Amino acid sequence: MKSGQHILALDQGTTSSRAIVFDDKLRPVATGQYEFTQHFPQPGWVEHDPEEIWSSTQRAVRTALTDAELTGRGIAAIGITNQRETVVVWNRETGEAIHRAIVWQDRRTAETTAKLRDDGREAMVTERTGLLLDPYFSASKLAWLLDHVEGARADAEAGRLAFGTVDSWLIWKLTGGARHVTDATNAARTMLYNIHEGRWDSEMLSLWNIPAAMMPEVLDCAAEFGETTDETMGCAIPIRGVAGDQQAATVGQACFEPGMLKSTYGTGCFALLNTGETAVRSENRLLTTIGYQLDGTPTYAVEGSIFIAGAAVQWLRDGLRMIHSAGQTQGLAEDADPAQNVYLVPAFTGLGAPYWDAEARGALYGLTRNTGPAEIAKATLESVAYQTRDLFEAMKKDGAGGDVVLRVDGGMTASDWTMQALADQLQAPVDRPVVRETTALGAAYLAAYQSELAGPPQEFAKGWQRERQFAPKMPTEDADRKYAGWRDAVRRTLSST
Ligand code: G3P
Repeated sequence: MKSGQHILALDQGTTSSRAIVFDDKLRPVATGQYEFTQHFPQPGWVEHDPEEIWSSTQRAVRTALTDAELTGRGIAAIGITNQRETVVVWNRETGEAIHRAIVWQDRRTAETTAKLRDDGREAMVTERTGLLLDPYFSASKLAWLLDHVEGARADAEAGRLAFGTVDSWLIWKLTGGARHVTDATNAARTMLYNIHEGRWDSEMLSLWNIPAAMMPEVLDCAAEFGETTDETMGCAIPIRGVAGDQQAATVGQACFEPGMLKSTYGTGCFALLNTGETAVRSENRLLTTIGYQLDGTPTYAVEGSIFIAGAAVQWLRDGLRMIHSAGQTQGLAEDADPAQNVYLVPAFTGLGAPYWDAEARGALYGLTRNTGPAEIAKATLESVAYQTRDLFEAMKKDGAGGDVVLRVDGGMTASDWTMQALADQLQAPVDRPVVRETTALGAAYLAAYQSELAGPPQEFAKGWQRERQFAPKMPTEDADRKYAGWRDAVRRTLSST
């Protein structure tokens, strides 16, 4: 990148809004981060206030710019990455959201999606969107809003309402309402977008009864998404990179070749395997999605989505109050009694890939009188390794794998213990990069690429550096025996058993 230039990446996640300033070598130099309120109006429901998403993002930007001793004028371009699938609907005239955002974790539409599955509609949905009938995706949540907010359907049909995932909402806000756009990776998570034809799918819109008038325009990940205003950023800054957070991490991890695999451990865990220009259909209940789209060409990926990873550690801290900070889990796990076989199945919001059981709920197995915080902490960290192995096994059955190396990122990767448990379960090497701000880095790179401040992906990939590789140490038989215990625990947790 040209010297002296900076890129601002906005990473709007499930539990916090972050802003990260990257320098001309795409190194993170300053960060602002603010958590915001999680609303749980009923069991299984999760909502965010769109205005709080926006205000926490603005605060994060102010902090990051102040830290970097910059104003908006020092920023060459903005990249945005975001929690995916979460639905915001707002009035185009007033700019006000008509309801709180319904978050990707929300299960309120489980019955609707199950009914469509029972009616035999899943094959058609998968064919067009690459997704499976589960409440996780945007479509059923958007339909719920139109059915439950008074007057919403009529307003939507009259073109008065706009739908967006969080990227669209932020761009609308940043551009002062001038642009209603999204990118192909976010569109691919709505269940309304045809990933093969690259357009909103009229069959899917009619399946969910969604008026086309409310859909945003879909652009490449590196494109002209609009400019900020004097009110929002103090000057006009172009927004030039957008990708859903898991796809941005795929870019940040430089997984540009078919067969490359990354897994990000944030609230949940999402593993994406690059399949190049071919949209590979999984036979083992994984998703087909757009990994990134540059210069009009989509690069596809197979994705395994796990809903709870870091959120299970958060539950130990905030729910059970067993620890004060996430970092304590590693020490506890090291002290755990190796003779105990405790399993946590963290199905707090149902189970994602490859089970897709929206009604399952979390369970702990194998408790004895000797079980204490150490064993529960260990089971929590191990659940992340087992769930990743579930995805790995499904990918292998789909014909991927072989000599795959897993590139990891996200908060939980700070724990060496967890990364070793992961390598042991996968019986494959796990690579942790030097730059762990991978999601934000991906968004920053996309914006830099569009601004012609950074070279093509292959050039960016040369800069990827490994900080440490975790090689499997556990004998295969031991790993398999432990994994069999996990499979048994999951079997007992599924809602149909
Ligand atoms: O699909 C949901 C995902 O985008 C959420 O990511 O980082 O908030 O766990 P994260």
